Amino acid sequence: MPDMDEVHSGKNFYLDNPHAITGFFLKGSNSLEWGTKNRLARIFNPKSGKTVMLAVDHGYFQGPTTGLERIDVTIPPLVPYSDALMITRGALRTCIAPEMAKPVVLRSSGGSSILKELSNELVAVDVEDAIRINATAMAVQVYIGGPHEHESIGNLIKVVDAGNRFGIPTLGVTGVGQELGRDAKYLGLATRICAEMGAHFVKTYFCQTNFDQVVAGCPVPVVIAGGKKLPEREALDLAYQAIDQGAAGIDMGRNIFQCDAPIAMIQAVRAVVHEKATSDKAFDQFQELREEFRKTREVAETAQSTG
Ligand code: R5P
Repeated sequence: MPDMDEVHSGKNFYLDNPHAITGFFLKGSNSLEWGTKNRLARIFNPKSGKTVMLAVDHGYFQGPTTGLERIDVTIPPLVPYSDALMITRGALRTCIAPEMAKPVVLRSSGGSSILKELSNELVAVDVEDAIRINATAMAVQVYIGGPHEHESIGNLIKVVDAGNRFGIPTLGVTGVGQELGRDAKYLGLATRICAEMGAHFVKTYFCQTNFDQVVAGCPVPVVIAGGKKLPEREALDLAYQAIDQGAAGIDMGRNIFQCDAPIAMIQAVRAVVHEKATSDKAFDQFQELREEFRKTREVAETAQSTG
């Protein structure tokens, strides 16, 4: 019988003794082979060690999400400001031009909708198609504690094994259902399981208390999702706190594409992630850029109405 208390609450995370990073710049990645490292180095900037991923895969279970009704219209202008694009193969092939040079983190699990049990997923992409589409990584949702926990861990294992045959890394995504927690104990459990099952990097949520323990207990890079739309100042603060406590990046969707000045917002997020800008400084930058965009739009609209 496992000691459930120990399982759920590790005690000593040696926060004053960070995981040694030798050779390759990413935590826990030095023993990977060249191709996998090269793909990871396209997603994570080798200079800052961080990434700003633009997540636009929400339609895979919730249909035309606000801001993603027309991916072909709203997303291409944002892509140049991202380090990687997280997207489904359907949206990629139909809405994004193949000239796009950014690495693709391909949503590779699915099979459920908001109308049913979300954890009931399967592997949604054959690795051959991931290669055909030139995916840089594959992403699989894992629902620890969910009704289909076992199957979702199985999906991760299958995709990690398939990707490993070709040097394609896998992002383990810790899905949170309504019944699942978002505290450090839960997120620590979920991220660690993803890493131990072979995920090369893990996406989770930020938590206000002990997020540094979540990062310390996960032997591969942790990136955080943005979650539901917040006021920009709060979203930048969330990003700042996560990076400050050891996150290797942000995989943000709604807080960028639902913002009324998304290009300004993604640039402000970049400043936090890559330049360690404080959220105050990044918010000032956001406001200045938003104002510039507003003026440019006004000039263009006036020219259109008079011309
Ligand atoms: C949701 O399941 C998707 O995987 C999104 O990629 C993820 O939630 C990040 O997007 P957001 O910042 O909107 O939470």
